[in-house]
Amino acid sequence: MNAAAGYAVLFKDILGNCKGKRVLEIGCGNGDGVNTLQNMGADVNCIDAGSKHVSPTHKTGSATELLKFFQPGSFDTVVALAFFGSPLAKWCVENGKDLRKTELAVLGQIKGLMKTGGLLLVYNADAWLPHLSTLRHEDYEKTGFAVVKNIRNDTLLLRRE
Ligand SMILES: C[S@@+](CC[C@H](N)C(=O)[O-])C[C@H]1O[C@@H](n2cnc3c(N)ncnc32)[C@H](O)[C@@H]1O
Repeated sequence: MNAAAGYAVLFKDILGNCKGKRVLEIGCGNGDGVNTLQNMGADVNCIDAGSKHVSPTHKTGSATELLKFFQPGSFDTVVALAFFGSPLAKWCVENGKDLRKTELAVLGQIKGLMKTGGLLLVYNADAWLPHLSTLRHEDYEKTGFAVVKNIRNDTLLLRRE
């Protein structure tokens, strides 16, 4: 199964009906997740530190500065797929940033963008290497998210309280 097909199953199973939902993908890479969500009828915006994906709603920038690019309280759903873990850890090394401070900053920015009751889907492809992300359930909870589902230890669905 290719990445887009895998994400289609993940979104359908975990997010359910995305039609008309305002969704943001952070760290969208080449846009597999974005395209899949668009095919499901979502209104998708995306951001990545690189610019491999080109679309009118793509922003090139860091997830540490989401509120510079998007309206506060404007998203129903945020997805972070294969973003926390080695990609963000690598970005921190390249930019001389502390991983923990950066992860907490990104989480705070995500919260600021979301509507109350909105869903955050985090898939950490590197969950089997826990030193690549400092985020634990209590960090999400302290930031203002409730854990809705924890799937296979690498996929979390959270609700913005
Ligand atoms: C492994 S790719 C995942 C791409 C896509 N989400 C997917 O699952 O197909 C990780 C992406 O995170 C991006 N990234 C890493 N650090 C970032 C940061 N601070 N802000 C925005 N994007 C970042 C990288 O540029 C890369 O495109």
